[in-house]
Amino acid sequence: MEAHKVRQTFLDFFKSKQHHIVPSAPMVVKGDPTLLFNNSGMAPFKDIFLGNAPIKWARVADTQKCLRVSGKHNDLEEVGVDTYHHTMFEMLGNWSFGDYFKKEAITWAWELLTEVYKIDKNRLYVTVFEGSKEDGLAFDQEAYDTWKQFIDPSRILNGNKKDNFWEMGDTGPCGPCTEIHYDGRSDEERQTVSGALRVNNDDPLVIEIWNNVFMEFERRADGSLIKLPKQHVDTGMGFERLVRVLQGKSSNYDSDVFSPLINKIEELSGHRYKPEDEAHHKKQQLVNIAMRVIADHIRTISFSIADGQLPANTGAGYVIRRILRRAIRYGYQSLNLKEPFMYRIVPTLAHQMGEAFPELQAQKLLIEKVIKEEESSFYKTLEIGLKRIDQICIDTTTAKKQVVDGKQVFELYDTFGFPIDLTSLIARGYQLSIDEVAFNKYLDEQKNRSRAATAADTDDWVYVGITRQEAEKTQDKETDFVGYDALERETKIVRYRKVKQKNK
Ligand code: ALA
Repeated sequence: MEAHKVRQTFLDFFKSKQHHIVPSAPMVVKGDPTLLFNNSGMAPFKDIFLGNAPIKWARVADTQKCLRVSGKHNDLEEVGVDTYHHTMFEMLGNWSFGDYFKKEAITWAWELLTEVYKIDKNRLYVTVFEGSKEDGLAFDQEAYDTWKQFIDPSRILNGNKKDNFWEMGDTGPCGPCTEIHYDGRSDEERQTVSGALRVNNDDPLVIEIWNNVFMEFERRADGSLIKLPKQHVDTGMGFERLVRVLQGKSSNYDSDVFSPLINKIEELSGHRYKPEDEAHHKKQQLVNIAMRVIADHIRTISFSIADGQLPANTGAGYVIRRILRRAIRYGYQSLNLKEPFMYRIVPTLAHQMGEAFPELQAQKLLIEKVIKEEESSFYKTLEIGLKRIDQICIDTTTAKKQVVDGKQVFELYDTFGFPIDLTSLIARGYQLSIDEVAFNKYLDEQKNRSRAATAADTDDWVYVGITRQEAEKTQDKETDFVGYDALERETKIVRYRKVKQKNK
């Protein structure tokens, strides 16, 4: 089944169960201090769960563009190194807002996986929440009893709070969850070691495909749980993993979600991508990792730009800039790509995903232009910086130290624009770690310095035709916005001061 059919089948299935199908919300979140990006399908519905927004449809399904590169859910370090984590991914989800609960959610999940997608039942395992003393929560008996109608108890595993109690962030809606895992190992391996022992054990062939969360609580800032006004269902199925399972592949990157991108990277670099079981040589592994990183990151960067988030020096923009630089670094070092190349993959992506996500097609030229400009400027500093970091790593090793000095990490950041995770990655290649604590100290010092520098150049207020005391007494503290009714307004300047920003 081709990827686009997999997506459509999910939506059609839940439509047949009276769900309203909605488009993905933008990946970039604006105006929420707790989230920079949507990190799960439920994030755009957060206010409905908390009872702060009205329920428009009691049943909803969609595919949501998600990004897990910061905050509580951060998979960045795994991406590319393994074959099943991504920065950006699609999360297929169905929701009940105060409507159905555990029984229906579990029953439909099983029906869709085994009767519609026809996944082999003998390869599926499920987990249920074992309870938590700390939070005063009991074992999830209802989920267990429902599963028992479909699957042998030996395949129903207990999971702890870390794996089976899902929370959006440090605060917010949360609840016990039940996960569905797929065992993609060979028959021989499955007979030797039971899949039950491989679940949640970092086996790249035994992976979680779907999580069903039963939202009942809100985690407060003081760590306590309070009951939500209603019970809800929030589910998330990793689209890229599901496609891989249905296409019988052992890596997400071998499915048709990624193969057009990998083919394009092969064409641009002249290197070949080999399936994992054929990539025995270290050199080939490095090529594979680099291609996976690039194929993953081009999606993240393109979708972010399409959603209005350009690379920048702070906040969400800096996250995007770091991801782009990570991809360039891999291309440069492992694929010998010595000039801008990322922007040349955009047309392939837009062609492949433009139907499901029209914003990619509509913004294609802008995305290419922004990426090309970013790449060009980063390439200039990259070359000098890479030489410098190699020298630093060699000197550190020669001095028989295992940790790269924080001051040097800071210098790479400050002068060459090397994000700390990039430096850490290169250092790891030399079996070195970096002194993050010292790095942060230098970073703080720099921030304080620039704050002080800005303040030093602010002159005193000069009062016009009025004394300071008079001005303070009569000053109108309210701002009167007249822009809706007038284009001009006469006013009187009471005071002014000169501010000169040193860094401008
Ligand atoms: N919100 C749940 C998750 O992201 C479904 O795993």
